[in-house]
Order: sequence, then structure tokens, then C-alpha cells
Amino acid sequence: MTSAAAGREAAFRRCLYLGTRNEHDATEAVFAPFTDDPLSRLTWFLAAQRSGLAAIFDSRASDACVLSGAVVSDLVRRLDLDLLATGTTVAEVTPTGPLDALAVDYLILGSRLGTQALRLRLFSGHASDTIPAYFRAPALPQLWSAHCVALDAIPPDSARADRIIEDVKTGFALFGHAAAAQKT
Ligand code: HEM
Repeated sequence: MTSAAAGREAAFRRCLYLGTRNEHDATEAVFAPFTDDPLSRLTWFLAAQRSGLAAIFDSRASDACVLSGAVVSDLVRRLDLDLLATGTTVAEVTPTGPLDALAVDYLILGSRLGTQALRLRLFSGHASDTIPAYFRAPALPQLWSAHCVALDAIPPDSARADRIIEDVKTGFALFGHAAAAQKT
């Protein structure tokens, strides 16, 4: 067992959650200006999502077989539609990586869980056609479940497990850069 894996007795999906919680919460905190004042920070939030999701996906390893490819295409299309109306130019950030396919899927599919929670918190009771297209993307719980099964097939004490945890941390940091880069 590697030192980074010491104490990983749970299935890997749980280890990954615990091992990257601090980075998730730091990324969530970056978006506090939006959750505190959704109306005036909506364009910034959408531009940051557009930039961050694309940067994570474009950081995938060249041989990566990801589950989330069609999801990213759909989200980017929705974000472009939402942003078009505002005339916003998205500041792109340089991809990093190469990131493991499971790290990319975890970040992209996991970010949908947060967006669903935000939709309920911010837009409950709003008419569907008044909500940005990004927040109306489907939840896709089966895809998330399939991803969790793939995570649990990874031995928690393996070198690949270590790499996925590090790559998820790198992806969260990249998302933070994307948020900081937006001028809106
Ligand atoms: C305003 C910003 C965000 C908020 C409020 C937020 C909130 C949440 C919430 C409430 C959950 C748990 C949902 C559930 O279990 O049903 C969650 C899960 C998750 N979020 Fe976020 N999130 C935010 C941003 C992000 C971003 C930008 C990413 C990725 C780049 C991300 C990645 C994840 C992942 C991977 C999970 C799944 C954790 C697990 O169960 O292993 N989140 N988020």
C-alpha cells in the first residue's frame, strides 16, 4: 500500500469523495459571489462554468475513454446559448493534464449534482423558460451510477487510485482558475 493510500479501507468512490472534499469545498467557496447574489453574478457564473468544464474536458489524456463526452457537449452548447444573449466573451484557460478519464468523469458528472442542488435552491417555482438552459440540463442519475460502479472497480490502494485523486484535485484547481479568469 502506498503512503497516500494508507487508511483507505472503504471502496474507492468513498475514498475519492473524502480525499477531495477540501478541494471541492474550496471550489464551491469560489462561487459564493454567485450564490450570495445570483441575479447580478449569473453571467460570470455561466462564463466560469463554460471555461472550467471545457478546460477539464480538454485536459483528458489522449487515450482517455470518458463517459461524460456527450454531457460536456450538451452543457457547452447550453452555456453558449445562455451567454450569446448577453454578448459575453468567455475567457478560456489553458488545459492542464493529462487527466485520467475517471477524474474527468468525476468532475463533470459530479458538477451536475451541485448544479441540480443550485437549481432547486435558486429557481424553485420559476417558469421553466425563464431558467438558463444550463440549469435545465437533465440530471442523468444512471450515468452517475455507472460512473460510481467504475470508480469502485479501482483498488483503493493502487497507483491508479492515487493518480485519480491527484487529477481530481488538479481539475478543481483548474476550475478555480477559470472562475478567476472571467472579466464579466
Ligand atoms: C456553486 C458551486 C457548487 C456548489 C454549490 C456545489 C454543491 C454540491 C453539492 C450540494 C453536492 C452533493 C450533491 C448530492 O450529493 O446530491 C456536490 C457534489 C459534487 N460536486 Fe459540487 N458544487 C459546486 C461546484 C462544483 C464544481 C465546479 C465541481 C467540479 C468542477 C463540482 C464537483 C462535484 C463533485 C465531483 C461532486 C460529487 C461528490 C461525491 O459525491 O463524490 N462541484 N456539489
